[in-house]
Amino acid sequence: MGILSLPQLLLFQLILNLLLSFSVSWAGSDSAPDQDFVQCLLSHSQPSHPISEAIYIPNNASYASVLRSYIRNLRFNTCSTPKPFLIITPLHESHVQQAIVCAQKQNLLMKIRSGGHDYEGVSYVSDLPFFLLDMFNLRSIDIDINSETAWVQAGATLGELFYRIYEKSKIHGFPAGVCPTVGVGGHFSGAGYGNLMRKYGLSADNIIDAQLMDVHGRLLDRKSMGEDLFWAITGGGGASFGVVIAYKINLVRVPQTVTVFRVERTLEQNATDIVYRWQYVAPKLDTDLFIRLTMEVVNITGGPLSTGGENYKTIRASFIGFFLGNSERLLSVMETGFPELSLKQSDCIEMSWVESVLFWTSFPIGTEPEALLSRKPQVLVHLKRKSDYVKTPIPKIGLMWIWQKMIEFEVPIMSFNPYGGKMSEIPESATPCPHRAGNLWKIQYATNWEVSGAEASDYHLNLTKKLYFYMTPFVSMNPREAYFNYKDLDLGINNNGKASYFEGRAYGIRYFKDNFDRLVRIKTEVDPGNFFRNEQSIPTLP
Ligand SMILES: Cc1cc2nc3c(=O)[nH]c(=O)nc-3n(C[C@H](O)[C@H](O)[C@H](O)COP(=O)(O)OP(=O)(O)OC[C@H]3O[C@@H](n4cnc5c(N)ncnc54)[C@H](O)[C@@H]3O)c2cc1C
Ligand SMILES: *[C@@H]1O[C@H](CO)[C@@H](O)[C@H](O)[C@H]1NC(C)=O
Ligand SMILES: *[C@@H]1O[C@H](CO)[C@@H](O)[C@H](O)[C@H]1NC(C)=O
Ligand SMILES: *[C@@H]1O[C@H](CO)[C@@H](O)[C@H](O)[C@H]1NC(C)=O
Ligand SMILES: *[C@@H]1O[C@H](CO)[C@@H](O)[C@H](O)[C@H]1NC(C)=O
Repeated sequence: MGILSLPQLLLFQLILNLLLSFSVSWAGSDSAPDQDFVQCLLSHSQPSHPISEAIYIPNNASYASVLRSYIRNLRFNTCSTPKPFLIITPLHESHVQQAIVCAQKQNLLMKIRSGGHDYEGVSYVSDLPFFLLDMFNLRSIDIDINSETAWVQAGATLGELFYRIYEKSKIHGFPAGVCPTVGVGGHFSGAGYGNLMRKYGLSADNIIDAQLMDVHGRLLDRKSMGEDLFWAITGGGGASFGVVIAYKINLVRVPQTVTVFRVERTLEQNATDIVYRWQYVAPKLDTDLFIRLTMEVVNITGGPLSTGGENYKTIRASFIGFFLGNSERLLSVMETGFPELSLKQSDCIEMSWVESVLFWTSFPIGTEPEALLSRKPQVLVHLKRKSDYVKTPIPKIGLMWIWQKMIEFEVPIMSFNPYGGKMSEIPESATPCPHRAGNLWKIQYATNWEVSGAEASDYHLNLTKKLYFYMTPFVSMNPREAYFNYKDLDLGINNNGKASYFEGRAYGIRYFKDNFDRLVRIKTEVDPGNFFRNEQSIPTLP
């Protein structure tokens, strides 16, 4: 036998060290991970890109902080939250390939995480033994202003993308969510929307190419994966089909000056009348204008004498506006389209597009754009989200009834996001996300709480379900539609066994309507063994 080269020697030593630390930390444990898995990973490692530097075992000093860094819901950051037996943080595409190839050999369950904003922790929690493929290192962004396109890797955040666009151009933007720490991998593959939706559609509507590692460990682009698979990963969720490495997107044009506002009205300030009108106008106004409406319960101190001057609870409606133009044109649009809000010049704030992103994500005015680069979340709470779509305006008496229920429960907050414009022009089958024409707005139910523990959690989850139940007569039915990126396990869970197709249909029809069956066909073709699976993945045909 010849003498081992230095890289071979180092590799040998690494295998030995890793195996040793396993046998120490997992001795006597039932959940010992397959040592063959690590050995497989190391033996497939390319000398130029050693995977050993990307493997975290539970007794590694950094394991806990790597795992926790991208947990964005405190409900899933407890001692009893199930943890992965291994974390792989790819530094190179080849590491993704090795993870897929080796995991299949051992039939291991892999969870894929990019930004970690999944509302149900589906990207990093499982009741079954699993390992985590954490994509945060693969985060390069290449902007090409000449062609008005960009390649963005899955581990980049929306804030990083917005910032890199701003560095290159003050008249370009991208339609995506306003929260800067959200990850590209989950957000784009699950559709993605923000305040440019009425003008330019969803993030997924503006994706033109992709790099995907498939079940065989092949790195595919749009051409080599074919139009079906490309379609599936632009709204059907990446995690059912492969590992998204990167997306190529079309940038969109924004004016040098945009205008934002935030106007609040309580019930005492005629909120019911104004909200009632908003339903008719917000989905029809100039597509340069997006007015989100947030409804929440607030305390009023010292009510009118007729109420005895006591403190009492009321509803506050916040109209949060974003306009692709200056305040003068905005005021004229509002005067003809929505005079009931009586928007004034003093309510309007003119700024650049990147500043509007900071405003919309609640940074104080004057915050430097560099804040978008921070990966630290602005707030970290226990949370639950649900979604609904409204297709016919709610009568005033219905609104008043809803306010009464909200005041009774105090949670959740409801956000109404108007549709219309570009959203109505794009056919339901253009991407897997079917919620297009016919919708007046989308509701987000948002419940946040500070206190940890099962009791507080039960309490808040129960109230969220209750309000959702009371909203039934006012929202879409057959199916009661839901937005896939607002992941909600109340809609059904897949055990990925014999009943998988029917379990999948329960939530699949709500998220994807008629597109569900096409997603199932594509899934069955590209991943018949259902390697890429989770609690709400696309099932294969029986
Ligand atoms: C604070 C906050 C604000 C939000 N605001 C908006 C908003 O304005 N608009 C909106 O549309 N949504 C919004 N969302 C929802 C968000 O779009 C989804 O949660 C999105 O899926 C998060 O992507 P992620 O990469 O951060 O999450 P992750 O938890 O990492 O992933 C989410 C899902 O995608 C899968 N996935 C992740 N990366 C990959 C990959 N590389 N390949 C294959 N599958 C992958 C995961 O397995 C998981 O199933 C918000 C969420 C939060 C927590
Ligand atoms: C933890 O794992 C990382 C990545 O594999 C490695 O670089 C580091 O040396 C490990 N640390 C310890 C203390 O074992
Ligand atoms: C509410 O509406 C009434 C009747 O239209 C009007 O007289 C009153 O001024 C309004 N109040 C506010 C605070 O706008
Ligand atoms: C209103 O005040 C009560 C009593 O101080 C408090 O318990 C409650 O949380 C407050 N509600 C809101 C929505 O602020
Ligand atoms: C929540 O609802 C469940 C089922 O309806 C009930 O058993 C539980 O007591 C409720 N919890 C709280 C805190 O209200």
